[in-house]
Amino acid sequence: MRLLSSISIAFCLLIIGTGFTRAQSLSVDDLRIDHQHNPVTVSSERPILSWKIISTAPETVQRAFELRVSADQQNLVRGRNLHWTTRAQTEQSIALPYAGPALESGKPYYWQVRVQDNHGNRSAWSEVQHWQMGLETLSWKAQWIGVPGKDTSAASPIFRKSYAINKKIKSATAHISARGLYEAYINGQKIGDAYLTPGWTSYKKQIQYQAFDVTALLSKGKNVVSAVLGDGWYRGRIGFNNQRAFYGDTRALLLQVEITYTDGSRETWKTDDSWKTSLGAIISSDIYDGETYDARLEKRGWKLADYTESPAWLPVQTLPYPYDNLVGNQSPLIRKRERLKPQGISRTTTGDIIVDFGQNMVGWVEIKAQGKAGTTIIVEHAEVLDKDGHFYTKNLRSAKQQNRYILGSSHEQSFSPHFSFQGFRYVKITGYPGELSASAIAAVALYSDMEETGTFETSNPLINQLQKNIVWGQKGNFVDVPTDCPQRDERLGWTGDAQAFFNTAAYNMDVQAFFTKWLKDLTADQHQNGSVPFVIPDILTANDAGAAGWGDVATIVPWGMYQAYGDVRILEKQYNSMRSWVDYMHSKSKDNLWNTGFHFGDWLFYRPDDDNDGRAAVTDKYLIAQCFYAHSTEILANSAKILGKTSDEQKYRDLLTAIRSAFQQEYLTPSGRLVSSTQTAYVLALQFDMLPENLRQQAVQRLVENIRSYGNHLTTGFLGTPYLCHVLARFGQHHVAYDLLMQETYPSWLYPVKMGATTIWERWDGIKPDGTFQTASMNSFNHYAYGAIGDWMYKNIAGIQAETAGYKNIRIAPLPGGGINEARASLETPYGKVSVSWNIKNDMFNLTVSIPPNTKASIELPEQQNGKKKVLRVGSGTYAYTTKIK
Ligand code: BGC
Repeated sequence: MRLLSSISIAFCLLIIGTGFTRAQSLSVDDLRIDHQHNPVTVSSERPILSWKIISTAPETVQRAFELRVSADQQNLVRGRNLHWTTRAQTEQSIALPYAGPALESGKPYYWQVRVQDNHGNRSAWSEVQHWQMGLETLSWKAQWIGVPGKDTSAASPIFRKSYAINKKIKSATAHISARGLYEAYINGQKIGDAYLTPGWTSYKKQIQYQAFDVTALLSKGKNVVSAVLGDGWYRGRIGFNNQRAFYGDTRALLLQVEITYTDGSRETWKTDDSWKTSLGAIISSDIYDGETYDARLEKRGWKLADYTESPAWLPVQTLPYPYDNLVGNQSPLIRKRERLKPQGISRTTTGDIIVDFGQNMVGWVEIKAQGKAGTTIIVEHAEVLDKDGHFYTKNLRSAKQQNRYILGSSHEQSFSPHFSFQGFRYVKITGYPGELSASAIAAVALYSDMEETGTFETSNPLINQLQKNIVWGQKGNFVDVPTDCPQRDERLGWTGDAQAFFNTAAYNMDVQAFFTKWLKDLTADQHQNGSVPFVIPDILTANDAGAAGWGDVATIVPWGMYQAYGDVRILEKQYNSMRSWVDYMHSKSKDNLWNTGFHFGDWLFYRPDDDNDGRAAVTDKYLIAQCFYAHSTEILANSAKILGKTSDEQKYRDLLTAIRSAFQQEYLTPSGRLVSSTQTAYVLALQFDMLPENLRQQAVQRLVENIRSYGNHLTTGFLGTPYLCHVLARFGQHHVAYDLLMQETYPSWLYPVKMGATTIWERWDGIKPDGTFQTASMNSFNHYAYGAIGDWMYKNIAGIQAETAGYKNIRIAPLPGGGINEARASLETPYGKVSVSWNIKNDMFNLTVSIPPNTKASIELPEQQNGKKKVLRVGSGTYAYTTKIK
């Protein structure tokens, strides 16, 4: 960094790529409906359409588009019998609401787009994409079915029914949901490639169903549809209070297959009282505790057509559950995303096998075994080994994370759980018959199938490992719901953690559909008085709500979504929820001061064990609450402005002014000191503009002095950490931000990396320098909150920022420093890929930037010696700049 302050500015601009003289090509790609590719359970009357423009010409902008939709693919490409067609002269290529005739329940639609650009080029029609409407309430013919009598068994019920087909099939779709978790099959083959379905929502208010194309699974003659249910979040153990059956104690299946034959006729297969049920080989399954599978109990061939049902198969019971809370799946399904091979297999002195997968991750282990029927193999999971190399599970608290497999025959068998998942890097295997070979075991990472949108790499291997750890933290904790941790008896949608990590998450992966779904649960579970529960879906008590920095997820995430994806509808949808959260804080305030109620405060801030001279960084909880009160109110006023709600905007701007002056009166001395002299206090006050302008610089100085007084260490917890480096960079102290980022001793981001972490830890010192652990009751090794630094790294090291919502205008402003001499990053924005790479070689700062079509960018080169910044405005294309930095 210091190098760069002596820049003598001689930069040159190059445009790499095809110039105007060469043939230019223009095409349209990445068509999406409701932010997803070819979704099959669309429920909105006005789905949202978007596409990307691909162009080899620089400075390309969309001038016009034409779009066509048909219920029939052949008709679409022939341009006949179109359901809707529209064209407009506009730059808009994202977040366009469907405005055609009504869309029919369960029906597929096909669509294409073509565009014209500012250079006079016209694209061909895009490839055909499609979507399918979900089932409306009235279209459900299937009935909820369950076991006869009371559902008391821990074992998984299985269900089956056979059907005959004697015509040629054109298409078939299965619509499935469950109270509990389901896996369903046709003729022995699993329907779809999703796991842990129907996912987790606030089940009392909404339950998702999925739809899968099953055309290829059906055949002429006899067909069998079957399914198995597990407890899951619905009926299993949930939360840290050993609570069970929170949503209900009766598991149920709902399954409807819609078949269209080539002669145009249609048929519906559906769960009803003609289905049969029995118990299967899954003796018990639980998200936290794992699964027990007794292969001796398998009903061989039960999923196939030629199976004969024994008297153990009983008629099901139909259950009077409603349909009106069924919602089509609208977020990425949980899929098997990665397979990891063992990095090491060893034996303990007691003969148990320990397998190291080299990466703390979430999912399960697949294991093959051959031995005597009745042999029990136990697979246990742990995130870490202790300092003596022993398998360590105390930090799982009461979660067993233990799968048991009982061999059913002497043939080789393959096992993995169905209705559980584990957080682990190591597994311990007891009772394995014979030697375990590396090819007999693999770890499968399961997570919501989000597209990876960001890449980030520098010349510093520790920073690269930190980035990897952040991404793995995201993978492991984005399993349908954004959770705090994936391994102990918790795994809940903690709101504070989610808001802290949101921006980083949106760089690494496309989280638009994922969070759209979760925000619906937030709205559903928000209290009447506007208070927001600590966790979403809410499984805690009515009192567990309304904490500063946690409840603010209601404003922070919708606002972050709007910035990242540019779709104003998220603000429209969430506006009432946002406003009622702000009104809630207002209702709890006196004279605009929010100083009542329970707060977590700056959770897990720096606190030395032996604190004789008061080094613990305790920040007054109400000071924090006041800052977040202001922040949410400002987001609300900004959202009101965007939505054209003028009187609300004025009302909340006035409130914001009052909140800030109440803050100054209560927490600020006349000379500018805050009542809590911590990093978090100064960071929040500066980040949210709580201080009068004339007192800001001295507050920055106090913050820097504080950091220096801890030997360039941070002392912040969950609420201060996400903003710490941002505040430093904003006030010209990015070299201090780099000092914190590059710090390798506790507390810092790189300390866990140096200690061998492969994910982000809950505690700055989950493993202490002497190798001992933090308190077992709160020591997750996969907790993404502190990974919030990723947002700063993308925005400042790479310099990729949204100048306007959705990256229509992009700001590229790398701030080199920390001894990093090379950085490369990219982000797939709603308009296409932005990429930045820079290096420092022989006193030259070399920057290459790619900007996607239909956007503009301002590129800020690092500060010159005279303190000035060169800013260049460009359109799409690839550019290179070289600046002398001597
Ligand atoms: C969770 C957190 C959460 C916190 C609330 C913990 O048990 O793991 O991440 O935000 O409680 O203070």
